[in-house]
Amino acid sequence: MKRGLFITVEGIEGVGKSTNMGYVHEALRAAGIEVMPTREPGGTELGEKIRALLLDHNNQSMTDDTELLLIFAARAQHLAEVIRPALARGKWVLCDRFTDATYTYQGGGRGIDMARIAALEQWVQGKLRPDVTLLLDAPVEVGLARASGLKRAADRFELERRAFFVKVRQAYLDMAREHPGRYCVIDASQPLEQVKIQLSEVINHLIMAAN
Ligand SMILES: Nc1ncnc2c1ncn2[C@@H]1O[C@H](COP(=O)(O)OP(=O)(O)OP(=O)(O)O)[C@@H](O)[C@H]1O
Ligand SMILES: [Mg+2]
Repeated sequence: MKRGLFITVEGIEGVGKSTNMGYVHEALRAAGIEVMPTREPGGTELGEKIRALLLDHNNQSMTDDTELLLIFAARAQHLAEVIRPALARGKWVLCDRFTDATYTYQGGGRGIDMARIAALEQWVQGKLRPDVTLLLDAPVEVGLARASGLKRAADRFELERRAFFVKVRQAYLDMAREHPGRYCVIDASQPLEQVKIQLSEVINHLIMAAN
């Protein structure tokens, strides 16, 4: 059986990844494609427990290396339990964030050496990489305002977050330039209807190419 396509959805907080997952899923399903929607970190019972550890505000002492290793531990489980079996059965896997988020957040944002991330990527994934990455790109202000629903000016903590996400966004744009064959950059600053039009163009190309 022909292996399914591995599609990832990436971008900084609040750009609309989760919102558009449903739209992309439905568009593929309507074309008769079996889709496995999933997310990272998480995607398995064990992986969701690791996700809870990563997001828990009580774990302030977690080192950058611990965070990185937990993310790849969850990813190993996700690949073994969900992603590889689905692809092997011919399903298309649609994943809300994947390893590019590790390069951009832990690498670009936190400053972990990209070579370390690449070594873990090779270890955990072998040759497997996403076939298509939909990068929802928007200015940091847009993403953070959508994520928080805030309209007022940012406080000190939010300004710190803003500087972090500026680095993350830049790392995503750098990756898109490095991998032009895999990346589709979507202008996510536009109204949702316009974002959907851009996505549907990409999806139609993928469906045509698969037939
Ligand atoms: N193009 C858009 N225009 C206006 N609002 C949008 C648009 N896309 C998404 N939103 C809204 O922005 C908010 C954040 O969207 P969503 O949760 O999908 O982002 P996300 O990328 O998944 O964020 P996170 O990284 O935090 O998971 C939601 O309230 C959503 O309805
Ligand atoms: Mg989301």
